[in-house]
Amino acid sequence: GADVEADISKIEPGQLIRVIWRSKPVWIARRTPELIATLAGLEGQLKDPNSDEEQQPEFAKNTHRSLKEEYLVLVGICTHLGCSPQHLKDGAFEEYVEGVPEGFFCPCHGSKFDMAGRVFDNVPAPLNLVVPPYMFIDDNTILIG
Ligand code: FES
Repeated sequence: GADVEADISKIEPGQLIRVIWRSKPVWIARRTPELIATLAGLEGQLKDPNSDEEQQPEFAKNTHRSLKEEYLVLVGICTHLGCSPQHLKDGAFEEYVEGVPEGFFCPCHGSKFDMAGRVFDNVPAPLNLVVPPYMFIDDNTILIG
């Protein structure tokens, strides 16, 4: 079928895994409590912090844009022209957004997204990264689709 089951039991806090769903890359990131605590403070730097402009599941209309705060599920395709953004962490993202140690950077034209996939101001990407439809089958398994 077109839906994909992802085993999340081995994802360590701070880690991101990639799966393919309908020929698209999908990222599943396990966010630390420290990282989750930073998301609300970024709102002044974001184009659409509450995802008002996005087509996405209702459950993603919040700061963390996910069913469970700990797990972020995103389609890994830039909303500008479709390149694949890089996941930068452990301070590597601060080169692009001062004071923000982790996020996604698109090398094609420099769009930047936080760890909820929300797009920063002053970049070409118009929209937040897409949250696909998904559900938890159990604590260790996500069904995407
Ligand atoms: Fe990502 Fe243009 S495709 S910034």
